[in-house]
Amino acid sequence: MRDDTPDETRRVRLSRTFDEDAELYDRARPGYPPELFDDLTEVAGIEPGCHVLEVGPGTGQATLPLAERGCRITAVELGADMAAVARRNLAGFAAVEIVTADFETWPLPQEPFDAVVSATAFHWIDPAVRMTKAADALRPGGALAVVATQHVAGGSAEFFVEVQECYERFDPATPPGLRLPSPQDVDTSDHADEVARSGRFGPVVFRRYAWDLTYSTAEYLEVLRTYSGHRALPPEARDGLLECIAGLIDRRYGGRVTKRYLTELRVARAAPSGRRRRAP
Ligand SMILES: C[S@@+](CC[C@H](N)C(=O)[O-])C[C@H]1O[C@@H](n2cnc3c(N)ncnc32)[C@H](O)[C@@H]1O
Repeated sequence: MRDDTPDETRRVRLSRTFDEDAELYDRARPGYPPELFDDLTEVAGIEPGCHVLEVGPGTGQATLPLAERGCRITAVELGADMAAVARRNLAGFAAVEIVTADFETWPLPQEPFDAVVSATAFHWIDPAVRMTKAADALRPGGALAVVATQHVAGGSAEFFVEVQECYERFDPATPPGLRLPSPQDVDTSDHADEVARSGRFGPVVFRRYAWDLTYSTAEYLEVLRTYSGHRALPPEARDGLLECIAGLIDRRYGGRVTKRYLTELRVARAAPSGRRRRAP
């Protein structure tokens, strides 16, 4: 049964914001460092011909590099517009199918997958369902590969300190004096605990990649407009916030800022007892 606590309601509401402007998402959101895809081969056994189930592909940020590496992919995307753009982006790959559905209720096919991949999307899936359903989708020993993205200190470090004033002014939920964590302070124990609690996987292997992207003022505002938290602000607050941020970048940072991302790959193998088959 779905948990209807306020946090759950907020998760469900925010998980639908990406589809409000799929073209913006496609234009503005970055992909992932190439080393991550090399590690998916090494740690998760994702190789050419591998049958991958992707959860929440968006417009194909991880789907495209996986397809280019020869994977057969079924990707389950909640947003109809996101799925349509993903289909356009993946049109050249006959072995890729983008399904418009929510992962929680999508009926798993009979044939198990070699890997379940979810890039910046697994946290949007109902926590009561995601681990069990991912395990059910996998063959014994198949890999659950979750890619998580964190915003960390670095790049234009001073800008990210100063910009908090804009957030405090326009978003009342912002805790005063909030600072981005350094990569070593980012805690991953929640995911490891959730995997362990499910009882369906072995230990989690983690790989981390810190990388920088430089944005012009306009590009930075576009990427902010794709974030669910920014999209969910009342329009006047969002406009005021974006104007405040743009003014800061233009006035104090010469119209360019560098943002540091911490991408983390988290891979766990399904227990050898593997998939719980449904009755025919
Ligand atoms: C932050 S975006 C990540 C998209 C892409 N994987 C990326 O790396 O940028 C999260 C995606 O998950 C999708 N999503 C959210 N809830 C979902 C669900 N219950 N089932 C399937 N997809 C879902 C959203 O529509 C959105 O496209």
